[in-house]
Amino acid sequence: MDFKQIVSHAKEYGFIFQSSEIYDTLAAVYDYGPNGVELKNNIKEYWWRSMVQRHANIVGIDSAIFMHPKTWKASGHVDAFNDPLIDNKDSKKRYRADVLIEDYMDKLEAKAEKEIKKAAKRFGEAFDRDQFVTTHPRVVRYLDEKNKIAKRLAQAMKISDLADMKQLIEELQIACPESGSREWTDVRQFNLMFSTQLGNIAGEEGKLYLRPETAQGIFVNFLNVLKTSRQKVPFGIAQIGKAFRNEIVARQFIFRMREFEQMEMQYFVRPGEEMEWYKFWKEERIKWHKAIGSPQEKLRFHDHDNLAHYANAAVDIQFDFPFGFKELEGIHSRTDFDLSSHQDLSGKKMQYFDPELEKNYVPYVIETSIGCDRMFLATISHALQEEKVPDAKGKESTRVVMKFHPSIAPVKCAILPLVKNKPELTEKAQRIFDDLKFVTQCQYDEKDAIGRRYRRQDAIGTPYCVTIDFDTLDDDSVTIRDRDTLHQERIPIREIADKVRQRTDMTVLLQEIGD
Ligand code: GAP
Repeated sequence: MDFKQIVSHAKEYGFIFQSSEIYDTLAAVYDYGPNGVELKNNIKEYWWRSMVQRHANIVGIDSAIFMHPKTWKASGHVDAFNDPLIDNKDSKKRYRADVLIEDYMDKLEAKAEKEIKKAAKRFGEAFDRDQFVTTHPRVVRYLDEKNKIAKRLAQAMKISDLADMKQLIEELQIACPESGSREWTDVRQFNLMFSTQLGNIAGEEGKLYLRPETAQGIFVNFLNVLKTSRQKVPFGIAQIGKAFRNEIVARQFIFRMREFEQMEMQYFVRPGEEMEWYKFWKEERIKWHKAIGSPQEKLRFHDHDNLAHYANAAVDIQFDFPFGFKELEGIHSRTDFDLSSHQDLSGKKMQYFDPELEKNYVPYVIETSIGCDRMFLATISHALQEEKVPDAKGKESTRVVMKFHPSIAPVKCAILPLVKNKPELTEKAQRIFDDLKFVTQCQYDEKDAIGRRYRRQDAIGTPYCVTIDFDTLDDDSVTIRDRDTLHQERIPIREIADKVRQRTDMTVLLQEIGD
């Protein structure tokens, strides 16, 4: 399915709505509908239980969105959480300078790719991609130019050389995508934190920020958790919560939002052992993605070109979204930067006494950080499929189906009386629903022909449909239909709960990650 179809399916079936739609929407802010909130809660539960329940040495917290403003000074966000911004003088549109340049590089790559595809078609089996890429003059020129620009941009970003970014935009003759104008302002730094004001203090003193990452709530609670949980290094603190960033470029649906949710875990380790744990968490996180059904070919590691000031190693797990491979999760070796900065600014010792080494130290940190909304987008874009299936009369028809892992499907079992105008059927079906609703997320549906109701459940990814027919009244059995195999079988009513639980319980998914 292409990106447009995914976005419209998400709206049509109550997964995601644009915020404040009746007022023409608010850009880069989205709401989750009835099926969306179930799926999102299931993704969060999967993450939480895989981190906190599966690891005896990881505990959770839920810290406030508002934090003391000094937090953001210590973390470096006040001084360095910036994007380079540029305005077009004619259209008055605002852009990220680095994104304008990256878009230009993407165009060069697309041109090269077009040539490669053309040649692959022409030469067929005999085509040698590597040889073609290194020898074909036009392809070599496109890719050389792209690499040169990438190097220069990386250097300009690293040393915050805003003048060179402007120079690059002028040299490449990049025009405003909206108006075609090349009249640009200078490039300026733009801080991505949203600020607000405390009610009882006027001016700068009362200025607060909406947190741009949940991680700092973990760092400032390090001593509290250490004392109350009696954990020993290595141990982790996990948190799920909202984060806010005033993104300049807001596009690609829920990929880049201004209000989003993060699932972050900070793992505190002995200084010097961080690389071992960095490797461990890279492997562990890939196992998590694979267990939920993301295939190997849709996942890849991408080492950071420029390390942030606090990191001595950093890698992204990229996912093959409908618009290409992009960051889904970050794994960062944050050294002792955060705890040490908070120690310096607060005057509180952020240290751990290691009984084995018999010494105090500020622990080093490995962070895993994944955007819940990006995971949601990866999940629906991979799950949504169109496939040919036989209809009731054995003819080929097309169905749209969400092939979620059964444990995260928004609805686990649909209860469907064969027809709606027979009270003996609907009452029986209602009684089955009333029993099953204590076991799992069910939906009762009696509207429309049974075939249409099956299609509706396929479209939201319901693993099981249970049909109550006239035989049910005699023998207390039902037909249960499997979403993926379309296999239908007759089972006693008393066995429905166990059958559904066997495939849809979250435990099933957690066990698939392995030890
Ligand atoms: N604590 C580290 C941190 O915040 P990050 O790479 O800036 O690192 C981590 O963000 C994850 O949060 C990203 O991998 C992405 O999944 C998600 N994320 C970041 N900005 C986002 C945005 N504007 N909209 C949606 N998700 C976002």
